[in-house]
Amino acid sequence: MTADKARKKAIRARVAATGDSYTRARRKIAGSPGRDFQPRRVAVFGAGYIGLVTGACFAELGHQVILRDVQPEKIRMLQAGEVPIFEPGLGDLLAANKDRLSFTVDAADAVRDAEVVYVCVDTPPTASGDADLSRVWAVIDSLKGVSTDRLAALVMKSTVPVGTGERVRAALDDAGLAHVGYAANPEFTSEGRAVRTFLRPDRVVIGAADEESAGLVTALHGGVDGPVEVMRIADAEMVKLASNALLATKISFINEIATVCEATGADVEAVAKAIGMDSRLGPHFLRAGLGYGGSCFPKDSRALRVMASNTGHPFQLLSAVIEVNELQPRRAIQRLKNELGTLKRRRIALLGMTFKAGTDDMREAPSTVVASRLLAEGADIHCWDPLARPGEAEPWTSATRHASPVQAMTGADAAMVITEWPQLRQVDWTAARHAMRNPLIFDGRNLLDPKKMRATGFTYIGVGRP
Ligand SMILES: NC(=O)c1ccc[n+]([C@@H]2O[C@H](COP(=O)([O-])OP(=O)(O)OC[C@H]3O[C@@H](n4cnc5c(N)ncnc54)[C@H](O)[C@@H]3O)[C@@H](O)[C@H]2O)c1
Repeated sequence: MTADKARKKAIRARVAATGDSYTRARRKIAGSPGRDFQPRRVAVFGAGYIGLVTGACFAELGHQVILRDVQPEKIRMLQAGEVPIFEPGLGDLLAANKDRLSFTVDAADAVRDAEVVYVCVDTPPTASGDADLSRVWAVIDSLKGVSTDRLAALVMKSTVPVGTGERVRAALDDAGLAHVGYAANPEFTSEGRAVRTFLRPDRVVIGAADEESAGLVTALHGGVDGPVEVMRIADAEMVKLASNALLATKISFINEIATVCEATGADVEAVAKAIGMDSRLGPHFLRAGLGYGGSCFPKDSRALRVMASNTGHPFQLLSAVIEVNELQPRRAIQRLKNELGTLKRRRIALLGMTFKAGTDDMREAPSTVVASRLLAEGADIHCWDPLARPGEAEPWTSATRHASPVQAMTGADAAMVITEWPQLRQVDWTAARHAMRNPLIFDGRNLLDPKKMRATGFTYIGVGRP
């Protein structure tokens, strides 16, 4: 066994034995490269899903972190030791590193001693589909008139169009901040696994125009267990958009295969499993279902398409990917309608609301399209989800939320599995069948065993399953 392999084995053993994070365990192991690590003062702008995980993980790596957000309520919660979002492991990490973390609404406070400013603000689409960078410019504005003597670099973690780096460089120069370097460090995290993917990423991508900035961001990641790829800024910006577009493409591809399976009698589950065994293709993102959602895939695939359109290139492949995804929830409603005749005054149970399991995030969740379509058809919606925070807006204000899946299904004419929550596998389906008015289940995530469900007395419909 090589020395490197032996060290990795020792770290894993320590993780298993102590429950420590991999990084913490790694630092404790003799001979760890973390020992010559230099702590930095990092200001993270934006305490949302990305900023909080970034800040907590940098603190875990040993840096002194100050998180700044414009929402006073978020900062108040964080100062009180509460975590405003659900992300596995995040609360523990914030608590374990509280001596290295502080929170503020005041930009000047955040920047005063910072050596690095990380930009983790939201970049939603504008009416034209371009990314709205107003919050990014607001961060740069907040550096003006503040002492930035120690500030060595501004680092972009927010997802931005290719070319943003050049614009930020010009804005920094105009603001008298020519001494501040710039780097792109896009985030490839997966919500629900964000802490783990930060500390043990497939790769850390760093785009920089100068060696100092690249070296600084590389050094900040000392203790992270993954390869670092340094490249030009525009390349790093494109890697982020292209990666998400390719993942979205895999999902829409398997959903198209599922539709053809439905028409021909093949079973997409068996097909996808065997496709995924091909090492050239891999098993990931080949789950047929209601399509992708969340804050990234829909937004980033549209942003890449708009970016291409702005250059005069119609990105037809991506347009098809997006269209397939928009159709998936609508096809589900049509299939339900085929079974029930009409959805008017039908009671429909939605099992799961978040865009995927393991998160409370409802952004662009397929459930919202499903529920809106059901409302438009005159159905009565009853839903269950362990974590979802849908906000006070339609269609959710017209839906009745229940504490358990069986309660949501009581008296229902049909139930739809919307999110692949593992709890749904543990449901007493015999009790659910007796509680329902009509035992029809549409499994939008192919989560349940069709044979067992049929044996229990359900009419079972999956996606791409005979
Ligand atoms: N959520 C993901 O899974 C994910 C993954 C990869 C990349 N990204 C990208 O990361 C960025 C952030 O995403 P998110 O999901 O964390 O968004 P979010 O909406 O959860 O968080 C953004 C935070 O920034 C704050 N903010 C806005 N303007 C600010 C300012 N001037 N100063 C300080 N804070 C400010 C907001 O109040 C909010 O709390 C986006 O560009 C997104 O595309 C997100």
